[in-house]
Parts: sequence; C-alpha cells; structure tokens
Amino acid sequence: MKPNVKKLPGSKSQKILSRLNKINLGGSITYPFVHSHKGQGCYFYDVDNNLFLDFASQIASNPLGYNNKDLKKIIQKHSKREPIKYAGQDFIVKEHLELLEELLTITPKTLNSAFLINSGAEAVENTIKLCMRKRPKTKFGISFKGSFHGRTLGALSLTHSKEVYKKNYLQISNKKLSFNEDASDQLKKIIKKNGSSSIGFVIMEPIQGEGGYNVASKKMLKDLRKTTKQYNIPLISDEVQSGMGRTGEWWAINNFNVTPDLMSSAKALQVGASIANKKFTPESGAISSTWGGGHILDLALGLETIKIIKRKKLLNNIKKTGDYMKKRLNELNIKNQRGIGLMQAFDLDNKKMRDDVLIECLKNGLVLLGCGHEGIRLIPPYITTIKEIDQAIDILDSSIKRCTKKLFKHKGLICSYMNCGDTPT
Ligand SMILES: Cc1ncc(COP(=O)(O)O)c(C=O)c1O
Repeated sequence: MKPNVKKLPGSKSQKILSRLNKINLGGSITYPFVHSHKGQGCYFYDVDNNLFLDFASQIASNPLGYNNKDLKKIIQKHSKREPIKYAGQDFIVKEHLELLEELLTITPKTLNSAFLINSGAEAVENTIKLCMRKRPKTKFGISFKGSFHGRTLGALSLTHSKEVYKKNYLQISNKKLSFNEDASDQLKKIIKKNGSSSIGFVIMEPIQGEGGYNVASKKMLKDLRKTTKQYNIPLISDEVQSGMGRTGEWWAINNFNVTPDLMSSAKALQVGASIANKKFTPESGAISSTWGGGHILDLALGLETIKIIKRKKLLNNIKKTGDYMKKRLNELNIKNQRGIGLMQAFDLDNKKMRDDVLIECLKNGLVLLGCGHEGIRLIPPYITTIKEIDQAIDILDSSIKRCTKKLFKHKGLICSYMNCGDTPT
C-alpha cells in the first residue's frame, strides 16, 4: 500500500468536522479527516477515501494497527453478548480475571496485583491514591518538570508539561524535580526539609511522552530508585504511553534495570490499570469505579493484545524496526533525535516549523504527532515494516525540505488545523 491523499480535508470529512465543531465542548478539532473504519495494518482510509500511513497509532493506543484479524475474531466472538459493559468492580465478569492474570505475566514479579479502570488519567489517579492511603502523613506528591500524567485533577496536579492544561484548575499539593541527574539530590533536599513521611510518592515517566519524548538517563533513574528505597517512598512509573511493549521491552522502565513500586498502564492495554504489590491493597471502598474492569470487549481485546504481542514476538520486531527507524532519522536534517524502540522523536527549529511539517506530512499521507514545544514523535504500530518506515521517512524528508524553503506557507482550509501539533497527549 502507498499513502494517497487527494484533498485535505476532503468534503465529507469537512462536513462532519464542521457540524461537530459547532456542538463539541472540548475545543476545536485538531486533525483534518474523519476515519472510515476501513484500513489494514498501519494504513487507514478516511471517509473521503484518502489513504494514510499511521505513525501516530491513535496516540499509542492502537499497537496492532487497523483490522487485525485476531482482534476482529474477538470482537465477533462477543458480538452477540448484551450487555457488553458491566459494573465491573462489583459485578464480576470472567474476562476481568483473565486480563489481570495475563497482565501480571508481563509485570515485574513484585508488582503482583492490579486494579482495572477506564483511562490513563484514572490509572495514575488510583496509583497515587493507593500510595496515599498507606501513608497517612502525606502532605504532597512529587513529579517531574515536563511531565504529563493526565487530566483528572490529581493527575493534572502532577503534570507540568504545558500551562494550558492547568490554568485556573485547583491542584493537590505537589513539588517537582528536574528531569535530569540532579533529581535524586533535589529529592534528598526535600526529604531533609520536610521529612520522608510527608512525601506520598514520586511519579515519573521513564520516557516523558507529551512533554517531549525525553529519555531519562540510567544514572538518573538508578539514583532516584536508590533514594526512594532508602527513605521508603513509593516510586511510580507512569507507563501509560511508554509501556505495553512500545520500547521493545514490556515496560519502558525495564530499559533502565529499575523496578518501581507501582506502575500505571492504559492506551495499548485498552483499559487503564494501576499495578502494584498486593500489599498496597486498601480497605474495601477506598478505590472503585462503576465501569472499571467491566467492559467485556475492552478486557478481551486487552488480553488478546498481550497474547498477540507474545505469539508474534512483536517485541523483537519493535527492537529491529526501531533501530532501523533511528538509523533513517539520523540521515535527516533534524535536531535532538531521541527515543527507544518504536517510541522516537526529534525537534525542528521552532514550533511554527514543526506545525508546518506535521501538516505537510499529513497532506502527503503520513500521520505524525507533535510533542514538547518543537518536537515530532513517530510511534507506528508494533507490526510496522522496514518498507513502511522507508515510506514514512521519505515523506518526512521531502516535507521538511519543502517547509524549510523561503516563503513556504500553507494555504486554504488546512490552515484551520494548524494547531494539530499542540494538543494530542
Ligand atoms: C504518560 C501518560 N500518563 C497518563 C496519560 C493520560 O491518559 P488518558 O488520556 O487515557 O487519560 C497519558 C496520555 O497521554 C500519558 O501519556
């Protein structure tokens, strides 16, 4: 297959998007097309029959690409069930157990229990609640500059990537560390001043996602683990974006030989999960949710996703294609190339250039995402091939070349979508 875009936005997409924009309370729509549900592997068609190569994977939530035949079988198997959604923390379905058991085959040994929930933000929210319940003297939590942990008020309090997410919103108490090798010393200073028991937890992304695909150094994480262990402060690895295989290891933290006390997962897992040692279990009623752990289809798809990644040895594919993508990116006129496996990014000279290039790529059928201030991330499905990476890098290369020409300017309807580099998380 080859990406093929005739007009962007096409007329059918444009009609749907403008109707939606009138009644959508979430702000203006960012991407200039509407999915048709047709597609295969890393490619999808929009309703105007434009064909795109997807290196954004539904913001890391579509690890196996479009119309995966094994996942379709799961959907068919459950198609006659009604209801498909149960109040899953109180009224149990077997799929809940099956997903938990499978999930715990891929987590570090000491992280031997999990709580299922609806989204990444809620997964984070519940990991911090689990910590705080066990630490009654908690006065604040600790996260990192540049972090993104979600948009519920707890998770958002710990988010520091962009001001727009937080303005006017009340926060839970928190302090932040620099995302570099000073982190552990900064933490020690906070401990010295406030006492370790006043710290509920330290939460970090081993590779910061929305904040810019910043990769932690081994030393930073090793020192942080040492200090948190020494003072008995729970360390949470937020794996909502980086986990479930994206880096070629099941969890991004595995790349650093560090074991956290808790993890949050979602996106590629289909459901949210707070994962920890069973000793973190609170008294009944302390955490719950009506729908968490009750959406049969999501549970079954999450389970099958893990099984497919194992069966098809996709972690190996991620390492192999990730290395190749790194090598090809290295040939381009870009800055600050970074990332692990199929979680990679680079910077352009400024935000305008980044947004221009994202749009130019889209016009040529390649879907990418922004990150940080002037970054672009490449996160294709785990099944991607060398050929698809070549296609993507060629489109990216020619788009960068066009956009860096003097007097380059996008024109027409597409200009209403120029903020698509900003908002995806
Ligand atoms: C690292 C991280 N944590 C938490 C979240 C929040 O997940 P959700 O959007 O599913 O609430 C995200 C979303 O991008 C994320 O990247």
